[in-house]
Amino acid sequence: MSMETAIKNYNSEYNNIQLTNIESRPEPLKVLMCSPTYFDIIDVKNTHMLGQSGNLNKDLARQQWQDLHDIYLQLKAEGVVEEVMLIDGAEGCEDMVFCANQTFPWIDKRVVISKMRHPSRQKEVPFFEAYFKALGYQAIHLKEATMFEGMGDTIPHPHKKLLYGGFGHRSDPKAYVEISKTLQVPIIRLELPNPNFYHLDTCFVPLSETEVMLCREAFTAEGLAMIESMFSKVFYIPESEAISSFCLNAHVIHNDKNGKKAAILQKGSVHALEALKQCGYPIYETATSEFMKSGGSVFCMKMMVY
Ligand code: ARG
Repeated sequence: MSMETAIKNYNSEYNNIQLTNIESRPEPLKVLMCSPTYFDIIDVKNTHMLGQSGNLNKDLARQQWQDLHDIYLQLKAEGVVEEVMLIDGAEGCEDMVFCANQTFPWIDKRVVISKMRHPSRQKEVPFFEAYFKALGYQAIHLKEATMFEGMGDTIPHPHKKLLYGGFGHRSDPKAYVEISKTLQVPIIRLELPNPNFYHLDTCFVPLSETEVMLCREAFTAEGLAMIESMFSKVFYIPESEAISSFCLNAHVIHNDKNGKKAAILQKGSVHALEALKQCGYPIYETATSEFMKSGGSVFCMKMMVY
């Protein structure tokens, strides 16, 4: 199929996709965080940042980042994750702390390097490329795509070699055609028409192979139907809760080696909390208010590494 056809009928090749025919994928168990030393709010890159320049409490931000880091250390002590790694934030890279965006690491030790939409964020990417190369990863640079924001827009189906790729704000659908060919993995493309949900990781949280929580208003009817055909149980989270609490930026972790799991999310959600409880997640609620002013919360502040 040509690139143009693949994009126009964006999921037509997946009409008959069956989870049972998709290879398994062990979940990554190493967590990478980026120190918040230079975190700031300078310009408006998404709707959540409107009116927030100059409104950041930097001491509180550092404390909240530390609290999240402590949760990951505790999860390491409990055997839920295997390692907690750190990359230093760089001066002049005010959004680098959102380390879900600059890359997309894959299980075969290849890492897709992002093409950030905003020039100020493009400066962050070489630091991550060097970091992954030092870990022994091979870097993949996209040729045709104009924008791609890594794990912010590319979310794996739990335990499967299948990806969901959000597009419309920060990633170009062409990226998924290229990545799919290069990594040899199907990618279901999901258009994000609602500016409040500018990355897929703000509105879509797969909870298990069969369960997902999401915000209906973040998707098109076609996208929603595609998701509903892949998961037998969908928890619909009200748009107001998803926007005000960033609960769909929760980080859910499943350790395939020992069956342990955990969910970390911003304090204050109701429906998302209930869905996580129903799915049997031990829950860690934490405060990320200063990062929410920049349009991000827990999921954005870490990268899972194989
Ligand atoms: N201020 C950052 C931006 O607009 C926030 C990024 C949040 N990351 C995420 N994965 N949703 O780019």
